[in-house]
Amino acid sequence: MTNIKKISHIAILVEDIEESLKFWRDAFGLELDHLEEVPSQGAAVAFLPLGESEVELVQPLSEDSGLAKYLAKRGEGMHHLCFEVEDIEAKLEDLKKQGVRLINEEASTLEDGRQIAFIHPKGTGGVLVELVEGL
Ligand code: CO
Repeated sequence: MTNIKKISHIAILVEDIEESLKFWRDAFGLELDHLEEVPSQGAAVAFLPLGESEVELVQPLSEDSGLAKYLAKRGEGMHHLCFEVEDIEAKLEDLKKQGVRLINEEASTLEDGRQIAFIHPKGTGGVLVELVEGL
């Protein structure tokens, strides 16, 4: 069994990051590290670190992205949980062998070089799970 190191982030899908920050930063007290556009995800993301993990507020930027469609259908709320793993390829192989349904059979590489893949909610009991291998 390959190693899972920690929860990397919890992603929350929102209509408007500035509006959401009124709760998560101003009322609740998380600190905003930075805001950035992530073209590969078609989204703007606010990063709110907490201990070894982060809360990420994700706002779709284009109306035809998968995220925008999800938001239109299901509304705002928890989108996915991301776990950092030691070896993403090995973890995906493990899961495939066990018959777990994946969204991404292969990991893809982010702008910053980290590798990610998603596990299908049908395989996890309804939770969209992202895996990330850090640098
Ligand atoms: Co994520």
